[in-house]
Amino acid sequence: MAYTITVIIIVVLYFISISNATRNLNLINGQDDLSSSLVNQVGICSLLVETQGYTCEEHKVTTKDGYILSMQRIPMGRGGKKADKPPVLLQHGILVDGGTWVLNTPDESLGFILADNGFDVWIANTRGTDFSRGHTSLSPSDPEYWDWSWDELVAFDLPASIQYVHNQTGKNLHCVGHSLGTLIAFSAFSKGQTLNMLRSAVLLSPIAYLGHVSSILARAGAEAFSSEALYWLGLHEFAPRGKDVADFLSVICKIPDTDCSDLMTSFTGPNCCLNSSMTDKFLEHAQSTATKNVIHLAQRTITMYDYGNVYSNQKRYGQSTPPVYDMGRIPKDFPMYLSYGGKDALSDVEDVNTLLNRFNDHVPDKLVQQFKEDYGHVDFILATNAKKEVYDRMMDFLKLH
Ligand SMILES: *[C@@H]1O[C@H](CO)[C@@H](O)[C@H](O)[C@H]1NC(C)=O
Ligand SMILES: *[C@@H]1O[C@H](CO)[C@@H](O)[C@H](O)[C@H]1NC(C)=O
Repeated sequence: MAYTITVIIIVVLYFISISNATRNLNLINGQDDLSSSLVNQVGICSLLVETQGYTCEEHKVTTKDGYILSMQRIPMGRGGKKADKPPVLLQHGILVDGGTWVLNTPDESLGFILADNGFDVWIANTRGTDFSRGHTSLSPSDPEYWDWSWDELVAFDLPASIQYVHNQTGKNLHCVGHSLGTLIAFSAFSKGQTLNMLRSAVLLSPIAYLGHVSSILARAGAEAFSSEALYWLGLHEFAPRGKDVADFLSVICKIPDTDCSDLMTSFTGPNCCLNSSMTDKFLEHAQSTATKNVIHLAQRTITMYDYGNVYSNQKRYGQSTPPVYDMGRIPKDFPMYLSYGGKDALSDVEDVNTLLNRFNDHVPDKLVQQFKEDYGHVDFILATNAKKEVYDRMMDFLKLH
């Protein structure tokens, strides 16, 4: 506890000493120039999909609050046979983008495996990631661009992506989420959103309750972020490849028992089955999110963003505490496939059990549970054996619904 408080103080002092809004804006501006010029030339299709011999289409969807998100479609598998099965939307987690679904080889990556199984694959990319930094009126160098948490992903990004696929294909779709992607999906479903356009949902490393997160980095970060200091000091964009976050980590990593020699393991817990070349690739692809989103996660409750005082919550929500996302309201007959791991430091088994308890009156054959004892958080998307361990059974589930 004493250490934690010391760290918070160090972090806050540190940011006071080095940060000011102007400096941050300059940093962010530099990044924007890079990513907006990238957007014009390359995208996930040309970087990761076409290079593996698959057809790929780039799409854009605009959310109701003005964010312009990129999506990729893989409309057919290898060999050019057009998809004969329903569309599937892939929703990634935090600090990554849709590229993670196609980062491994075609025989290992879910995006390619789905296409080869005849599904019409659609990849979503959350606001603020490299290829989803457009907005109808704001620029990522405006603090307002980063004024969102996962509430907005629930209310705007996921519904826009699902609606877009539905509009384009005229069909109801399956939704596959990983990590934060599952939190967003569960929360949207609990409010009845998007369900009329969905056939089923697959939830990998499901996150809803966050009381038992054992990730050393996430816990240390949560303590630091539970104060809004960073946000108000002008760190609106949480850019993992940027200097501010590197500095922040170097402070966090000085806490005793926080071993940062293996950054990924400190954050996600041990992953059993990654190709050793994958860890670097994964970290190189790390994506920005809003600092406000990190603060919201650090609140570790399944409620809307807590403004921290009665007055502000009252003003925003018309009540003194933030509204709860009630998992018990997800329709009992909505088909769901949940797969979780015994070594996952972010989607802790106890937290998953709390969630499963909320589903104990779900129609039995509409809820498939799979427990992978040796799997960590990232194994579900990048393990070299994920096809055999998880995706084959998932394909059977999708084909049934
Ligand atoms: C879907 O189609 C409707 C009706 O044409 C349109 O109003 C809406 O903007 C479209 N939504 C998306 C996300 O494409
Ligand atoms: C590991 O990655 C390398 C380089 O991308 C690749 O050549 C190799 O086939 C991969 N190994 C496995 C077991 O997937």
